[in-house]
Amino acid sequence: MKIVILGAGGRLGAALLREYREEHDIACFNHAQLDLASLDDVRGKLGAMNFEVLINAAGFTNVDACETERDRAFLINAEAPGVLAEICNAKDAKLIHFSTDYVFDGEKRAPYTEEDEANPISVYGESKLIGEKNLLAAGDHHLVVRVSWVFGPDRSSFIDAIIKRAQQDEEVDAIADKFSTPTYTRDIARMLPQFLDRGVEGGILHFSNAGKCSWQEYAQWALDCCCDAGIPLKATTVGAVTLRDISSWVARRPVYSVLSTVKYRELTGTAPRAWREAVADYITRFYSKK
Ligand SMILES: NC(=O)c1ccc[n+]([C@@H]2O[C@H](COP(=O)([O-])OP(=O)(O)OC[C@H]3O[C@@H](n4cnc5c(N)ncnc54)[C@H](OP(=O)(O)O)[C@@H]3O)[C@@H](O)[C@H]2O)c1
Repeated sequence: MKIVILGAGGRLGAALLREYREEHDIACFNHAQLDLASLDDVRGKLGAMNFEVLINAAGFTNVDACETERDRAFLINAEAPGVLAEICNAKDAKLIHFSTDYVFDGEKRAPYTEEDEANPISVYGESKLIGEKNLLAAGDHHLVVRVSWVFGPDRSSFIDAIIKRAQQDEEVDAIADKFSTPTYTRDIARMLPQFLDRGVEGGILHFSNAGKCSWQEYAQWALDCCCDAGIPLKATTVGAVTLRDISSWVARRPVYSVLSTVKYRELTGTAPRAWREAVADYITRFYSKK
């Protein structure tokens, strides 16, 4: 299958590229090669190519920077996905686009389903939600995959920052009153091929690893896995801080954003593995060797 991947320099895009390049005919772009803020360039470059699937893993993902660069956030996260969908329509190609648990306000206390009303509380969430709507308005066979707390080896995320801190400092802490589910890029890359065919389910799909945790529980499990793997740490216990203790964030973030994977399970007949198993796999695979 001819696939184009956007955001190939990012955490998720790089993982997709690694997983698919053996089996598929892949072309990819990183930010320097294709800027989603230059819509004419996007139309020119992608319009000239032949492909069956376009995967957009690029986006303006700095949640705080989106607050102060609102126009840029909307151009990249909201307007560009609509343009990508139009380009795909002209080629009869399918667009697969990644979105976020941050489209929700976090007021619910049970996993968010695809039918739950989105109500973003940040510019990032708002821009991503409008991007979803623009894309699906262009064609409901296109697919929006909402994911949460993405981690993987290609770009540092929360888990890598915690391990690094625990290697350097005697004490580490993490937020204990914000909940969602970590999701491994490898697991996203492995489930996505089921949705590449144009005839297969479009619309919105939630995907995350299974279960729920706070940042503190996530961090503690990561350090526990490091200890099991014999990775030396100075700190082995993660202390608790609360959202109120965090003064550096510009954007508001949902306190609860667990995504329901019931639809995914019904469509595929498979369940995502538990987040603890995915984190343990990541640490064994990428930290034991360091
Ligand atoms: N990370 C998470 O926890 C998380 C959670 C929920 C949803 N998501 C969604 O998952 C998708 C992938 O995220 P990720 O974790 O892989 O993020 P990431 O590592 O920040 O990757 C995003 C990529 O987009 C690129 N990019 C930024 N602005 C661009 C532009 N104007 N034109 C072209 N490329 C641009 C970035 O390049 P530069 O770095 O060079 O600018 C980066 O390579 C995004 O849609 C994100 O909203 C992520």
